[in-house]
Amino acid sequence: MSASRSAIWWGGAAVACAAVALAAGAAQEPDRSAAGVYETGRLGLITQPDQVAPPVGPSYGVGPYPLYPPELAAGGGREVVERDCGLCHSTVYITMQPPLPRAAWQATVQKMIRTFGAPIPEDAARAITDYLAAHYSPETRVR
Ligand code: HEC
Repeated sequence: MSASRSAIWWGGAAVACAAVALAAGAAQEPDRSAAGVYETGRLGLITQPDQVAPPVGPSYGVGPYPLYPPELAAGGGREVVERDCGLCHSTVYITMQPPLPRAAWQATVQKMIRTFGAPIPEDAARAITDYLAAHYSPETRVR
């Protein structure tokens, strides 16, 4: 292959690579709202508690972290959930999930224990899974 033909070949290859890189870049940044991923209707069930308005005046305190624990559904096991699942993060982590089937809640509880080291005994873990399945599954979740 002559030197000039080689240059043409490499030039062409470079243009092709640039085109592929551009296409890949475009694919990495999809327009999520246009794609409907963040369409408000899809998240209708997942509500967050309102923020508490800070007191008006020259001095105010800062609430303990986490700031806005939600009201969990009433029912047996709620106290255990509030005690054991509010240690490291707000129980809003529970209410901000979409309705999940029992197996998903069970896996989440086990992940908190095995992966993140949550000090939750087995009977409490069972009570928590029962509570979550009873109030936060697709069949049972009310809000
Ligand atoms: C030992 C600390 C700890 C405890 C206790 C704990 N979690 Fe978590 N949790 C984490 C960490 C760490 C994450 C992931 C990091 C993040 O998103 O902040 C997380 C994330 C989550 C998430 C987000 C989704 C996910 O899977 O990452 C949910 C839901 C959740 N926790 C539920 C629970 C429930 C239910 C309990 C009670 C059984 C619980 N957590 C107790 C540490 C804990």
